[in-house]
Amino acid sequence: MRKIVIAGNWKMFKTQAESQEFLQGFLPYLEETPQEREILLCPPFTNLNILSKSLHGSRVQLGAQNVHWEENGAYTGEISSPMLTEIGVRYVIVGHSERRQYFGETNLSVNLRLKAAQKHGLTPILCVGETKQQRDEGETESLIISQLNQGLVNVDQDNLVIAYEPIWAIGTGDTCEATEANRVIGLIRSQLSNPNVSIQYGGSVKPNNIDEIMAQPEIDGALVGGASLEPESFARIVNYN
Ligand code: 13P
Repeated sequence: MRKIVIAGNWKMFKTQAESQEFLQGFLPYLEETPQEREILLCPPFTNLNILSKSLHGSRVQLGAQNVHWEENGAYTGEISSPMLTEIGVRYVIVGHSERRQYFGETNLSVNLRLKAAQKHGLTPILCVGETKQQRDEGETESLIISQLNQGLVNVDQDNLVIAYEPIWAIGTGDTCEATEANRVIGLIRSQLSNPNVSIQYGGSVKPNNIDEIMAQPEIDGALVGGASLEPESFARIVNYN
């Protein structure tokens, strides 16, 4: 069974106080949310501990935005899997295009992070997706297949979520057509050995397009940036029709 996973990626937004304020507004809306939907918040590292305490007993799971492949060591600025699991983190985003673009992540480092996360019981969310130029040059399919082939070497597909995030649709308001996202996600699924991996769409997901996105048969959820920062808009997204 493919699980529906709706995740908010807060990127580098919100202090601890702001994240607490968000929860006060957001949690009451979850009374309407169908039980089978997995709801996830991925705040900055500095907010994980306090949110873990605040979310205790609620149905919202916590995710981190990255993880290192070693358990500890001289890796200034990095965070390891045991540091995340100790405070109740269950998921981790790996290979987000902003990590690849600005911080030199490669398919090889992404693969190391995925395996380390799984070894410690975290569920990684592997992000893949093409640039505008790659799309215009007809390279979308080959690029995504190589991100999957290299990223997923020795990765356990029983404990994995994938997010298709076309880079040109991130933060631009220029959403990928729902049918096109469905097509690419079908292609991603055809490359996997486990047909039950949940595959999300991400890129300008908003209250006004979530219903159409989730109506697509291949799409199992959403990875939401900007629209996850406001309680009302994220609530409308998790309570899609
Ligand atoms: P936006 O929803 O702001 O386009 O961001 C998408 C994203 O990058 C989620 O990881």
